[in-house]
Amino acid sequence: MNADAIRKRTAEIMSGIVEIPYEPGYRLHHGERSERLCMQIADAEKLAVDREILAMGALMHDIGKSGCGKGESHAVRGARMVKEMFADLMSPEELAKVAGIVEHHFERPNGKWYAGKEKPSWNNEILIVQDADVLDHFGIPGIWLSMHWAAYRKLSPALARHEWFDSERMVAWRNESVRSINFEASRRLLDLRIAEMDDFFRRLA
Ligand SMILES: [Fe+2]
Ligand SMILES: [Fe+2]
Repeated sequence: MNADAIRKRTAEIMSGIVEIPYEPGYRLHHGERSERLCMQIADAEKLAVDREILAMGALMHDIGKSGCGKGESHAVRGARMVKEMFADLMSPEELAKVAGIVEHHFERPNGKWYAGKEKPSWNNEILIVQDADVLDHFGIPGIWLSMHWAAYRKLSPALARHEWFDSERMVAWRNESVRSINFEASRRLLDLRIAEMDDFFRRLA
C-alpha cells in the first residue's frame, strides 16, 4: 500500500469539512488522534496486528460521517467510499481489510446492542479501532468536545458541569463506553481520561 498517498488523499477528502458545533475537519483530526491511540493500545497489549492496515483504518474510520443521510449507516457508507476512492492505492486484500475496519468500527461486541445475542468476533485491528474511537471522546479531546457543545448551546459553566456529571444522557453514554471497551490497556486509558474530565468539570464551576 502507498500509505503517504492514502494519507494525502484522506486529508484532501476530509479536511475543512464543516462539522457544527466542532471545528472544520473535526472527523479528520479525530481519525489522526485515533490512529495514535491504536498504536498505543496495540503496543501495550502486545497484539499481533498489521500496523499499516490499523493506521489507515483508524485514520479513515469516520470518512462516511459527513454528509451521511438519516437512516444510512456512516460505517457502511464509509466502507463504500474507501472501496471506491482508494482502490488504486491498496491491494484488493488491503482494501477489504481497511474497509472492514470502517464498516464495523462501532459494532462493539461488549456493547448493549449485543447483550444476550451472539457477539461478533472481529480481528484485532477492528477491536483496537473500536477502543480508540471510544477513547478519543474522553480526556482532553472530551473536554474540547464538551466546550464546543457548551458554547453552541450557550450553557453556563454550572450547566456544562451538570451535563457531564448528572445528565441522564451523559451518564448512560459514559457507562456504555466503559462497558463496551475490548482491551484492558484501553480500559486503563479510559479510566484516566474520565478522571481527567471529572477533575476539569469539578473545577469549572
Ligand atoms: Fe463513527
Ligand atoms: Fe469515530
